[in-house]
Amino acid sequence: MKKITISADLEVYDSENELPQDVQSLMTQAIEAREKSYSPYSKFKVGAALFLENGEVITGSNQENASYPAGLCAERTAIFYAGAKYPGIKIEKIAISARSENHHVEIPTPPCGSCRQAIAEYEVKQEEPIEIYFMGEKGKVVKANSISDLLPLIFDNSYL
Ligand code: THU
Repeated sequence: MKKITISADLEVYDSENELPQDVQSLMTQAIEAREKSYSPYSKFKVGAALFLENGEVITGSNQENASYPAGLCAERTAIFYAGAKYPGIKIEKIAISARSENHHVEIPTPPCGSCRQAIAEYEVKQEEPIEIYFMGEKGKVVKANSISDLLPLIFDNSYL
């Protein structure tokens, strides 16, 4: 038996104001998208903004459903739209922001497991990493250089 240690280097910014200008602008668009969330059940609003290699920004927010599992997270709403509208165009960066109508969200909110898997699929497809920035409604912002830092031991098409 031998042990494997898994580690990742993440960057933590004290606030969105510390981010590079282009990422700050992307985060602002994620925050705007967050306010368009349809989340009457959880009251948890999430927005995501993608920066594509062609300079386009695609945004998405979580869309809930009375049949709970039929809803979709903000990240996948945006990623699938980008894939549908601009097939073959790489996603360079994702910014994510979340807030709740019930409590303050000051801890950076990372993408859920299913969204990590979806982001991983696009990294594999485009053969380039995607920078991921996530925050709550205010406060610290965490940056990961690639989904592999948030989802180690990725299951991808090489196993099929
Ligand atoms: N949600 C997202 O939009 N993204 C995530 O990565 C985590 C969760 C949404 C799904 C649901 O509408 C609400 O947040 C509560 O889970």
